[in-house]
Amino acid sequence: MAKTSLWLRCETKEFERRAALTPTTSKRLIDAGFEIFVERDEQRIFHDSEYEAVGCTLVENNSWPTAPTTTTIVGLKELEESTDPLPHTHIQFAHCYKNQAGWSTVLSRFHRGGGTLYDLEFLADASGRRVAAFGFHAGLAGAAVGALALSSNQKGEKLGHLESFETEAALVATVKQLLGGSGKGVKALVIGALGRCGRGAVDLFRKIGLAEDDIIKWDMAETAKGGPFSEILDVDIFVNCIYLNSAIPAFITRNQIVAAGTQRKLAVVVDVSCDTTNPFNPIPIYTINTTFSEPTEAVDVGAQNPPLSVISIDQLPTLLPREASEQFSMDLLPSLLKFPNRQTAPVWTDAERLFKEKLASAVEVEVV
Ligand SMILES: NC(=O)c1ccc[n+]([C@@H]2O[C@H](COP(=O)([O-])OP(=O)(O)OC[C@H]3O[C@@H](n4cnc5c(N)ncnc54)[C@H](O)[C@@H]3O)[C@@H](O)[C@H]2O)c1
Repeated sequence: MAKTSLWLRCETKEFERRAALTPTTSKRLIDAGFEIFVERDEQRIFHDSEYEAVGCTLVENNSWPTAPTTTTIVGLKELEESTDPLPHTHIQFAHCYKNQAGWSTVLSRFHRGGGTLYDLEFLADASGRRVAAFGFHAGLAGAAVGALALSSNQKGEKLGHLESFETEAALVATVKQLLGGSGKGVKALVIGALGRCGRGAVDLFRKIGLAEDDIIKWDMAETAKGGPFSEILDVDIFVNCIYLNSAIPAFITRNQIVAAGTQRKLAVVVDVSCDTTNPFNPIPIYTINTTFSEPTEAVDVGAQNPPLSVISIDQLPTLLPREASEQFSMDLLPSLLKFPNRQTAPVWTDAERLFKEKLASAVEVEVV
């Protein structure tokens, strides 16, 4: 039987240094009989030589369109905008199943090329739980940026441009150093604390030295009484990590913040959930997504009151590309190992059924 070939393409989005396949998982796949091609990529956190050392075949940057159509192309983020037909099978996050801007154009490229999309966001196990997600590192990175913003805030400065960190240890050391050696004394509240992002945020606060009593962990039970919550005003950093799927009262409002005047402790809000444009965004105190170049946005709380910064970066795991990629890719590995027999593996047959449903609705839209 011919070997299954996977082709790791480069990522083209600015700041994106993560990879869906790492040298570790590539080696595991090669040992299981796969053939792995890797596009040379300066931007990726893993060096080309790390892939070469485990037996991957290196190929030219962004050359996947020339790969044999029997090869499956693996990536993370969306492909660059184009109308070219897509004849390959792709495994990636395509962000085109929830009627996002341009969704039908993306799917119609697969229709015209005869290709197949397995969207990573919709690969789920028998209980419906996603097999691989970046949430933990999103929460961890969000809490870290929050702590960095607090330290800048305390010095009367604005947090500047951020670069990704080589390792989590380097990130933790930097945050601790900027907080004067430890985060001890800082008080934080995490909402959605039982989820992937929430657990990552709590983990970071522990690692930088916050006392356990100073990490307040809320989930559904604690917010059941309905917001806004005055408790949020009494912590230094508030991190929102909920998965929003219905209309809920706001957790915090601008009026409440202004009314608290100088009594407010709250200095930084990190909205990991980033439901920025959702009409039910429970943090309706900001309107834009912040970026690694401009990580914080000042909330207008009145000149007489202490400043308040919001962080709403929607690619937080990119701050820790190595660990985030390793964890994601290891979680994806068991499903990838089933890929050669995908006609009998529910994780892949379900994803293919979903693709076909979405493709059919896209074709209707495009034809009309
Ligand atoms: N900013 C980024 O870079 C980034 C990266 C990854 C994920 N996310 C987003 O983070 C959000 C959370 O993702 P996740 O993977 O952690 O989800 P998850 O399902 O693992 O966890 C969500 C948690 O929120 C809790 N929750 C839901 N509604 C709540 C409410 N009203 N009050 C209190 N708790 C509530 C749930 O009980 C659960 O514990 C998603 O919206 C996801 O898109 C953002």
